[in-house]
Amino acid sequence: MPDNPCAAGFVDFEQDVKPLIISQCAVSGCHDAATREEGIQLDSYAGIMDIVKAFDLDDSELWEVINDTDPDKIMPPPPRAAFSSAQKEVIRQWISEGAQNLSCSDRCDTISPLTYAVQIKPIIQSSCIGCHGPNLQEAGLRLDSYGDVSSAVTYRELADHIQPGTGLSIMPPSGPMSECSQRSILLWINQGMPQ
Ligand code: HEC
Repeated sequence: MPDNPCAAGFVDFEQDVKPLIISQCAVSGCHDAATREEGIQLDSYAGIMDIVKAFDLDDSELWEVINDTDPDKIMPPPPRAAFSSAQKEVIRQWISEGAQNLSCSDRCDTISPLTYAVQIKPIIQSSCIGCHGPNLQEAGLRLDSYGDVSSAVTYRELADHIQPGTGLSIMPPSGPMSECSQRSILLWINQGMPQ
């Protein structure tokens, strides 16, 4: 194990794994604190580790269910979208590296000019698309293209929905994204939402 796994490029649990599982699995009616389907609650590192065995993909239920080919068993279940191959790759790498609870805040880059394509799209993909994408459109809202996201900023108060304490419902509903993700989106909006 490297002394400094963040510097060694290990997967950042807080930024890259948790948002995905929170927004796709720890949702109402599934594995949030209120529902706890099958006794499984996936809104924290500890809860997620109940279905993960560090270094061992074959013994990790999480890995098994996101790859199941049986439509009755795959997670998340339809109509939610299955994890994309890029999302599975993050999970695979994270488990293979020992499923560590890393938070690599020094990786948060809010100095470079922010663009939709480079910094914003990946955040929205992992935190929002599960409920606002091609398969499911909560509140009639889609966020899977530049046009959708910029118009949600202009017409649906997206900025106020991602910050706690504005009086609007927090998005994702299970709790605010990391400071880095919130800050990146707000700065990008201030910079005029470059594509
Ligand atoms: C687990 C499902 C889920 C996830 C994940 C989710 N949302 Fe939502 N979203 C909802 C639901 C349900 C509503 C409607 C009820 C409400 O406003 O609380 C909603 C409403 C909204 C609205 C208000 C739409 C309107 O016009 O009233 C915005 C904006 C929004 N979401 C943005 C986001 C963003 C940005 C993300 C990712 C950071 C996100 N949502 C992640 C379920 C989700």
